[in-house]
Amino acid sequence: MNVTVRPFRGADETALIQLWNASMTHDPINAAVLRTRVLLDPNFTSRNLLVAEDAGELVGFVLGLIRQVPLFLQGLEPERGWITAFGVHPGRRRQGIGRMLFVEMMARFIAAGRRQIEIAPYTPNYFIPGVDMDAYAPALYFLESLGWQRVSTPISMRAELTGFQLPAEIVELEQKLAAQGVDIRLVTAADLPALMPFIADKFGWDWYRFAQEYLLMLFGPGADDICFLVAVQGERIVGYCQQRRERFGPFGVDPALRSQGIGRVLLFRCLAEMLAKGFHCAWFLWTGRNAARLYERAGFHTVRRFAVMRRELRA
Ligand SMILES: CC(C)(COP(=O)(O)OP(=O)(O)OC[C@H]1O[C@@H](n2cnc3c(N)ncnc32)[C@H](O)[C@@H]1OP(=O)(O)O)[C@@H](O)C(=O)NCCC(=O)NCCS
Repeated sequence: MNVTVRPFRGADETALIQLWNASMTHDPINAAVLRTRVLLDPNFTSRNLLVAEDAGELVGFVLGLIRQVPLFLQGLEPERGWITAFGVHPGRRRQGIGRMLFVEMMARFIAAGRRQIEIAPYTPNYFIPGVDMDAYAPALYFLESLGWQRVSTPISMRAELTGFQLPAEIVELEQKLAAQGVDIRLVTAADLPALMPFIADKFGWDWYRFAQEYLLMLFGPGADDICFLVAVQGERIVGYCQQRRERFGPFGVDPALRSQGIGRVLLFRCLAEMLAKGFHCAWFLWTGRNAARLYERAGFHTVRRFAVMRRELRA
């Protein structure tokens, strides 16, 4: 065995996609995904996409990211780094190739002044929140053997929408909120001046970016696969919910107005809109255990469990 680790080159594309799909079996990609979500990410540099090669064959890879451009006012996050994907060919495991790739990747993070590395919550272009605890259990053993720790365990959920009906209690709740001056309806252009600062202020720049992505489509070329709802009280935005195709969320309510049912109405109304558009299931990639209870009431069940992994580095 004569394995070397080197940066990715453009000509590796086909081999890398094959390796990715053979190793990250539950998160396959194609060339379009690699190009748009990896190679064209402004924070991508081939120096941090390392491949392990043996006799001209790619046998392992690790995709690391650090910010070269700021995420709006979230900035450059100069102490942080992320790994969003990695794998070793199934026929080449337990030969130290994963360890070799990680040793080199960590050296690069240290040289770039990084102190805290996480798998895999990099915005905007993460693939999964963390290591899938069921699909990739060996990766957890691997990371733990290298000193990584679990920091949280988000879940991904899914709901069947075939036959979905708006429950009478939601309709009543909606009427009660309307009597209190809170309306839940489709977004209009007139909402934008209040909506965008609301999202940035209450939910941060990543949610802003995600909402902006859908709204650019909605108010630009137009998109009939998107539903974007707002909850308004007079002139004030107090909540919102977004969806595109089968992917639901995120949605959020002003912290000052929580526990009054606004979130529940946003969620159920959005699911009803989705079914009316012809989408027969809804899913999302990431929530914590508490919000999961609300989703369960709308018919969602857990489909994947992830461990967000962290490694602290010293210079
Ligand atoms: C995780 C993965 C990259 C490990 O690659 P690898 O080349 O087999 O790992 P190494 O040989 O360098 O292992 C280093 C150490 O990790 C631990 N380890 C690795 N695989 C393990 C397993 N299946 N069970 C228990 N411990 C394991 C061991 O301590 C090992 O050292 P040892 O062999 O001397 O005991 C590989 O299993 C893989 O590609 N999995 C599928 C892809 C994946 O899960 N990606 C993560 C998506 S977020």
